Amino acid sequence: MAVRPFDVVSAFDVVSDVATIVTDVVLRSTEHRDLAFVVALERHPDNAPFVGQWSRTEHAAAIAAADREHWIIERAGAPDPVGFLIAYDLRARGFGVHVKRIVVSDKSRGVGRRALARFIERATRHLAPPYIWLSVFAENLRAQRCYRALGFCETPLTPDERLMYHDAVGGFSNESKLMFLRGGDPRRVAASKST
Ligand SMILES: CC(C)(COP(=O)(O)OP(=O)(O)OC[C@H]1O[C@@H](n2cnc3c(N)ncnc32)[C@H](O)[C@@H]1OP(=O)(O)O)[C@@H](O)C(=O)NCCC(=O)NCCS
Repeated sequence: MAVRPFDVVSAFDVVSDVATIVTDVVLRSTEHRDLAFVVALERHPDNAPFVGQWSRTEHAAAIAAADREHWIIERAGAPDPVGFLIAYDLRARGFGVHVKRIVVSDKSRGVGRRALARFIERATRHLAPPYIWLSVFAENLRAQRCYRALGFCETPLTPDERLMYHDAVGGFSNESKLMFLRGGDPRRVAASKST
């Protein structure tokens, strides 16, 4: 399958690649009653080295914000949450959709991959972003493998371009890798922002 930068149809192609395994994971909007679960999972020693730590208030603000999405990940038909995903809708500022954070409790069993595929499918359908991207710690090889399996590719940026993405999401570490769905050349979008 050819790489088509910023072609939102490619996100559907990615999802169709994993469609047979996506059906057992669902996303539902996070509610305030879920925040104890979310904060505990985020702070769990298995996860804290890889993701930022927010207070309940910060999570509640993300739930309320029109340009943020906060999802609980569940297995279809099972009552208990197994993870969460936060995304920023940055289309109005020219930075597509950013997957801010994803955490699942049961790792390396494809749950995170299926949840992210669900999110891509939904974001593509409802937001039609020019691109979907995320940052990941260089040492987080498990997450990178998950992202690559879905079509995210690391894209080299100049320091100025990287700074634009950094500022668009309130920062990420100097060592973080930026990965864009289906690669592409985000500089095209970044450049248009700076003019
Ligand atoms: C990142 C995360 C959401 C991915 O979800 P997941 O359900 O574990 O992901 P998957 O099972 O689909 O894929 C993980 C892959 O990494 C592989 N893996 C596991 N440990 C690994 C390691 N140390 N090095 C490299 N690959 C590793 C798994 O075998 C699997 O690959 P495979 O299915 O091709 O064999 C989940 O691991 C998680 O919550 N991690 C802690 C928080 C975190 O890192 N969040 C992301 C921050 S950017």
